[in-house]
Amino acid sequence: MKITVVGVGHVGLVSAAAFARWGHDVVGYDDDGAKIEKLLGGQAWFYEPDLDDLMAEVVESGRLRFMADPRAALCDAEVVFVCVGTPPLPGGGPNLSYVEAVGRAVVEYAQRDLLLVEKSTVPANTGKRLEQVIQRESTRLGNGNRIEVASNPEFLREGAAVADTLHPDRVVYGTSSDWARDLLREVYATLVAEDGCPVVETDVPTAELIKHASNAFLATRISFINAVAQICDRVGADVEVVAEGMGHDVRIGPRFLQAGLGYGGSCFPKDVDAFAHLAAQVGYDFALLHEVREINVGQRRSVMEKLESELWNLSGKTIAVLGAAFKPGTDDLRESPAVYLANELFKAGADVRVHDPVALEVLAREQPHLPRVDSADAALDGAHAVVVATDWDEYKAISPETYRERLAYPIVIDARNIHDPGAMLAAGLHYHAMGRRSVTW
Ligand code: UGA
Repeated sequence: MKITVVGVGHVGLVSAAAFARWGHDVVGYDDDGAKIEKLLGGQAWFYEPDLDDLMAEVVESGRLRFMADPRAALCDAEVVFVCVGTPPLPGGGPNLSYVEAVGRAVVEYAQRDLLLVEKSTVPANTGKRLEQVIQRESTRLGNGNRIEVASNPEFLREGAAVADTLHPDRVVYGTSSDWARDLLREVYATLVAEDGCPVVETDVPTAELIKHASNAFLATRISFINAVAQICDRVGADVEVVAEGMGHDVRIGPRFLQAGLGYGGSCFPKDVDAFAHLAAQVGYDFALLHEVREINVGQRRSVMEKLESELWNLSGKTIAVLGAAFKPGTDDLRESPAVYLANELFKAGADVRVHDPVALEVLAREQPHLPRVDSADAALDGAHAVVVATDWDEYKAISPETYRERLAYPIVIDARNIHDPGAMLAAGLHYHAMGRRSVTW
C-alpha cells in the first residue's frame, strides 16, 4: 500500500519504518526541513535503540523515503497517518491546530481516495472535527475524492519503540465504514499474520478513548504506588516488596508499580491533563486524575525535602544529579522529573552537576544554564550529596564503595530505588530511597 506518515517524531518515524518493514511503500513527511535533511542523511534525529538499524534496512530497500514537499508526499497516498505533535495548551487541553492543518493539507493535495488516520494522541471526538474540516475544505476546493477519518492509536514507549511497534500488545483501530476497516486490516496484515497480536476493531471515538484511558490508567498506577511509598516511608515498610507482593495477584500484575520520582515525558503528564480537560468539557469532574497529577508532583517535592533534611541549606552545596532523561533509553528531556529537580536545586543556589549517558547534548541545547559533567564519577567527585534521578543501568552498577570514596559527604538520595538499601546502609552511607528503609540523622 502507498502510505504517507505526516510528522517524523518518535511515533511517526518508528511507525513509518515499521510499515515499510511490513512491505508497504512509505513516505515520511515533515514540515521541519532540518529533520528531513537529517533523515535523508540516513540518521534518526533523536536517540532510540535499534531505530537506525531498522531504518537502514527499509531505506536501503527503497520502501521508506522522506520528503519535505507536502504535495509530493500526499498526492499519491492511499492511507495518511497523522503523527504530528499535540502539545499542551495553558488551559490543560492539547493544541490540535497541527492535526487540523494535516486535515486541510490532505484535501488540498489528495488526487485519489484516501483514509486519514489519527495516530497522534487526541481527545475523543477529534475524528468528528477532522471530518468537518475535510468536508468544508473539499467543498471549498472542489475535491471530489473520498476522504475518511479513522483512529489508530499508538502505544509504543520511547526507548523501546521499535520492539513495541514490531511486537505490540494489541492493535486498535476505529473506523466508520467497511472500506476504511479493510484498508487498516491490509496495513496490519503482515504484522498480525507474523506476530499474532490481538486486534480491537471499533468506532472512531472508542479508539480515541482507549488511548487516553490507557495512558491515564498507567499514570494512575504509578501515582498509586508513589502514594503507597509515602506511607512506607512513614511506617518503615519497603514499597518494592509491597509492589512485588501486590504484583503476584494476576488481577494486578507486576508492571508499572515502580515507585520513585514519578512519571515524566511527552505523554503521561500531557495526557492525564488532556483527559481531565475532556472530562470537564463533557460535564464530568474526573477528580481522580487531578490527584494522580498532584501525587506525581509531590514526589519531586519529597526528594527536595530529603535533601534539605540532610544538607540543611542547599545554597553553596555541590549536588550530583545522575540522569537528565525522563527515563532510561532515551535522550528526551520533555517534562523530565530529573531536569525539574536539577532546576530546583539550581534555583536554590546549589552547585549542581548533571550527568546523563546519552542526553547531555540535548541538555546543553535545552537547559544551557545547568552545569554538565561527562561521567558519573566526575559528578560524584567531592559532591556533598548525589541524587539518582533516572534509572539508567550504568547507575545501578555504582557500588556503595564508589559513593563512599568519591562523595565529600556520604549522602545518597536514590530517587529511583535502584540500589540495595542493605548494602548501602552497611557501607555507612546516608541512604534515602523512596518508600524503602532509609537512615536519617
Ligand atoms: C507512554 C506509554 O507507556 C506508552 O504506551 C504510550 O504509547 C506513550 O506513553 C505515548 O502515549 O506515546 P513513554 O512516555 O515513552 O510511554 O514512557 P513510559 O515507559 O510509559 O514511562 C513514562 C514515565 O513513567 C517515565 O518517566 C518513567 O520513569 C515513569 N514510570 C514508569 C515510573 O515512574 N514507574 C513505573 O512503574 C513506570
